[in-house]
Amino acid sequence: MERIVVLTGAGISAESGLQTFRGSGGLWEGHDVYEVATPEAWARNQKLVLDFYNWRRDDARKAQPNAAHKALVRLEQEYHVSIITQNVDDLHERAGSTEVLHLHGELLKARSTRDPDLVYELGDKNIQLGDCCELGSQLRPHIVWFGENVPAIYDAMEIAVEADILLVIGTSLNVYPAASLVPAARNARTIFVVDPDMPAMVQGDDSVGCIEKTAVEGVPPLVEQLLEE
Ligand code: APR
Repeated sequence: MERIVVLTGAGISAESGLQTFRGSGGLWEGHDVYEVATPEAWARNQKLVLDFYNWRRDDARKAQPNAAHKALVRLEQEYHVSIITQNVDDLHERAGSTEVLHLHGELLKARSTRDPDLVYELGDKNIQLGDCCELGSQLRPHIVWFGENVPAIYDAMEIAVEADILLVIGTSLNVYPAASLVPAARNARTIFVVDPDMPAMVQGDDSVGCIEKTAVEGVPPLVEQLLEE
């Protein structure tokens, strides 16, 4: 069975109502990254950081998987599908994808600030000041902040190298090491990129199938094409 590796970013969740980061109206237009998404921000004002992620978590809970998330599930009928997402929502899982690796963490989990291996499912709760892990330390969002290591990148690289087909959906490919997964998939026989505004990394690259559409417009027909191959 051929392996399809899918690298997704905020764009695949845009049509589910969740903001992207860098487009017009993007999250980083309304918020200063360095005030809410860095270890320094956490050291300066834990409540501001918790409030930011509590707000994003409530948004993500209200969102529903869209036709692009659901189409990727159908691919599993004919292929071994490995999703590597930069997104911290759980829309891939809720759509039914069975293999999802989160590079930048997960909104619906909390982590100990004393032992990073202590990770807790939040269920329908948020994180408040005074919510502590079993060791008594304040819980933080289980998110990779700017300037922090991306522990999942090693597993992600091993997956990318095995790709027979690579799909890149809804990411500007602006952030590393995530963006380095595209060149890492050098054994892929074909690469498709679905994005209404092609990332600079692939512009003019004739070896890439550029589908200049939104995820909901472009992914379902691409999946049908791949299932008919
Ligand atoms: N369908 C498909 N793609 C879309 C859509 C859509 N409806 N709307 C926007 N896009 C595309 C944009 O053209 C852009 O290329 O999605 C991409 C979103 O890019 P970013 O906002 O930079 O998001 P992303 O690439 O996921 O950012 C990566 O940066 O801030 C960090 O940790 C954060 O995981 C995030 C990382």
